[in-house]
Amino acid sequence: MPYVNAKEMLTDAKKNHYAVGHFNLNNMESVRAFLLAAEEKKSPIILGVSGGTAKYMGGYKTIADMVRDFMDFLKITVPVCTHVDHGTYEEALAAIEGGFSSVMFDGSKYSIDENIEKTRHIVELAHAKNITVEAEVGAIGGEEDGRISMGECADPEQCKRIADLGIDFLAAGIGNIHGKYPANWPGLRFDVLAAIQEKTGDLPLVLHGGSGIPDEMVRKAITLGVSKVNVNTECQIAFTEATRKFIEEGKDREGRGFTPRALLAPGLEATKAKCIEKMELFGSVGRA
Ligand code: 13P
Repeated sequence: MPYVNAKEMLTDAKKNHYAVGHFNLNNMESVRAFLLAAEEKKSPIILGVSGGTAKYMGGYKTIADMVRDFMDFLKITVPVCTHVDHGTYEEALAAIEGGFSSVMFDGSKYSIDENIEKTRHIVELAHAKNITVEAEVGAIGGEEDGRISMGECADPEQCKRIADLGIDFLAAGIGNIHGKYPANWPGLRFDVLAAIQEKTGDLPLVLHGGSGIPDEMVRKAITLGVSKVNVNTECQIAFTEATRKFIEEGKDREGRGFTPRALLAPGLEATKAKCIEKMELFGSVGRA
């Protein structure tokens, strides 16, 4: 079964100048939607899980088992990676124990020395189990799981120090933020991205806050070494708008439209369609 860590897919993406999409799980419908999208488009995929989602969906082991069982049931043949999104130290450890194939340890809120020490320990534990590690330098702004911060730009020298720990891919702030971008957002800092790529060489870079960034900027970021793009908000909005439309059209009051499966089916389809749209933008279609 192609339940894998992110090493091979991101190495290939970096070499061939495309990016693999990281799509955040929020509920059971999103598991199904993303797996079906990946299989239909023959694309590798990374399923991201925040601390909030982990709590909601029964913990890391439940999610890892559910993804593997769904892959089996849906006869998924493309590579699928389960990945902790912005994990605390404790969350990363819990996911390593729970059977995730990849973890992000987000130590960007610590001093660089403390970030390095904690990341080093996570790398040791994860690599011993063939689990890949994403680290972060320079906080990504916006709101995620109730945490709000402004977008920072990572220091390329600090990125190099973290890269030298043997991490597998790196999230570096380049003015990107989670959630909706404000109208006066100045855009991605490509000069900072180019300087980071110069210092970190072949290491795949990660662009967080993938929702709402204009397509040309995403394409340009990929040419400058971004090999993984994280998307959550746009898929959530697609799900919610489709569900609202179903109710506003009174379809929940027709026939068996009241059943939860019928109510959530349009949201599932909309999530899948949004995921496919992003895979096409990132260039990962047909790469599995
Ligand atoms: P968006 O919600 O802005 O798409 O960001 C997702 C993300 O970066 C998850 O880490």
